[in-house]
Formats: sequence, structure tokens, C-alpha cells
Amino acid sequence: MSALAAPAALTALLEASDVTDVLVNGAQAVWVDGVKGLRRVAVHLGDEGAVRSLAVRLAAQAGRRLDDASPMVDAHLPGGIRMHAVVPPVAPAGPLISFRVFRRQALTLEDLQRHGTFDAAGAKVLRALVEGHVNLMVSGATGAGKTTLLSALVSLASPAERIVVIEEAEEIVTPHPHCVRLQARGANAEGAGLVSLTDLVRESLRMRPDRIVLGECRGPEVREVLTALNTGHEGSAATIHANSCRDVPARLAALGSLAGLDTRTVAVQAAAALGAVVHLARGNDGRRRVRELAVFELIEGELVARPAVLFSDSGPVEGPAWSSLERRLARS
Ligand SMILES: Nc1ncnc2c1ncn2[C@@H]1O[C@H](COP(=O)(O)OP(=O)(O)O)[C@@H](O)[C@H]1O
Ligand SMILES: [Mg+2]
Repeated sequence: MSALAAPAALTALLEASDVTDVLVNGAQAVWVDGVKGLRRVAVHLGDEGAVRSLAVRLAAQAGRRLDDASPMVDAHLPGGIRMHAVVPPVAPAGPLISFRVFRRQALTLEDLQRHGTFDAAGAKVLRALVEGHVNLMVSGATGAGKTTLLSALVSLASPAERIVVIEEAEEIVTPHPHCVRLQARGANAEGAGLVSLTDLVRESLRMRPDRIVLGECRGPEVREVLTALNTGHEGSAATIHANSCRDVPARLAALGSLAGLDTRTVAVQAAAALGAVVHLARGNDGRRRVRELAVFELIEGELVARPAVLFSDSGPVEGPAWSSLERRLARS
């Protein structure tokens, strides 16, 4: 991380083991997020001009441009840090920089269980889903722990299987012995060289994958993902941004529309392609937990995520689609 063109005070925050996000609000304030939740820190990075130059310098370090003509940038920095920056006039009160730190430490299913992310019964169901080659979506808000859970699930795949991981940044960490990676690339400052997730999902099909793992399904690549999952590659998985299992169908429809698919087509394809969705959320105590497991069904032409297991504080409770999930697991 020493290679980062940033002041020492900022580097120290980014290196702190309990920090997941560092948020710079112009010259006014610096906030960090981590195990203890969002808190303001007494770090000053200079005036507005200094914060702006910092953002420009870091963007340039990642081969990206940040200026009046392109006032927003999303860049991958050395040391597994993702930076988003937006400068005035789009950010009228001063440049806003958001850093996300990716800890390159694999948490196993046992680790997550120990952290209280789910109990033994939850771990058993998750394990059965992977062993049963059920195509999975892991949903939740940003920072809910989706990528971490996805990594733990990937690690459970048989060593005899070949896994192709597709990501925008190298976030999934797994000790799986046969995991190969493809990483998307933004266009350079001249606008050339773009390699999208859509391209990569398509490429991955020619690489003899047993399972395809997409770090995050967040755009038109959903079309290729649904096609891939409907043509074999059982046991594939992706994360998706949604506030509950119930919201996943609408999110899929929205992403599908970016690829020119109508809601009905997405519904039919997703119902056939996707086995289950696991939803994560942070509680009031900041702890990340699996809250719900649902299965996708097509009901009168509409895609519905029906609850199979609800994880309350007192333990898992069967939902209306529990038997449907059991049947799926038994079939595999
Ligand atoms: N179950 C968990 N228990 C404790 N810490 C976790 C858990 N899941 C994730 N984390 C930590 O929270 C941060 C965000 O997790 P991440 O998986 O990247 O979230 P998301 O993909 O939903 O944005 C990471 O630093 C990660 O190490
Ligand atoms: Mg993630």
C-alpha cells in the first residue's frame, strides 16, 4: 500500500485492520466505517484544492481521468482499494472521495458461523446448496457481506471442479485449487480498451467452467448470466444489490431492461436459471447476518422470490417455500 500516492494520515486509515471504508467529504470531514459502524475521525487532508488534487492524482495512478469534463471516476488503486471520486460542480460542496478497502483474507463458512452470520442450521443449508449445485444469488445492500459469503461458498465447491470467477476488481478470495479469474477493465483515458463483464461472461463459456461466479451482477451482463445458467454450469453464483429477497425480481428486471430484455423474458429465464437467493443484512448492532433464503418461482408469468427459510434471532423458521427448496436439494 506504500505505493499509494496519498498523504500518510489517509494511508494509515486505509491500512487500519478495522476499517472497511474511508469517506472524504471535501475539506470538512473524514469518516470511516468498520466493525464499529460509521464514525468521524480527526484527520484533515487540507483545503478543497488539496482534496481535489489528491483525487486527481489517485485517479491518474489508476490510469483514469478526473477533471471538469469527466467529474466522476471509479478506480481500482494498488493494495485492493477501490476509489470513487466526484468533484465540483457535480459535488457542489467540494470533492467527495469514497474508498472501499478489500481485505484479502478468506473467511470460511465456519468463520462466518463463529461471527454469528448464521447458525449451524444455516450453515448446513448453505453447504447443501453448494453441494447440490443450486444456482445462487447472494443479495444485500452494500457492505452487507455478500462478497465475503460468496467467497466462502465458492471455497466449498469440490476441488475436482473448475471455477471461473469474473469480477470488476479482485475481491473474491478462495483457497479453491482450481479457480481462474477474469477481470473487467474500464476504457482508458482515450476511451479505448474496454472489456466489460458482459464480454467476460461470454468468454468464460469457452473456458470449460463447471461453475461460473460473477462477483456482482449489476448491469446488462445479466442477460449473458441467465443464458449461461440456462445452458448448464449448475452451481454458479453471483451477488446482487437488493434490500430483500422479495426485491430481487424487480432488480433483475431493471438490469435486464439495460440489456433490452422485457420483464416477462427476464422472469421466465430467471425462474429457470436461478435456484435460490440468500439475503444478508446488517443489524442495528452492525453485525452482518443471513436473514432469509428464498426460491424463485414463476407465478402467473411473474418472477417471485418465495421465502424458504427466515432467520430470526431465535433461530431459523421454515417459510412457505421450504418444501420447494427441499425438493430442489433432493433432486440434485
Ligand atoms: N459475516 C461477516 N462477519 C464479519 N465481517 C464481515 C462479514 N461479511 C463481511 N465482513 C466484512 O465486511 C466488509 C464488507 O464485506 P463485503 O463482503 O465486501 O460486502 P458486500 O459485498 O456486501 O459489499 C469486509 O471488510 C468484510 O471483511
Ligand atoms: Mg461486494
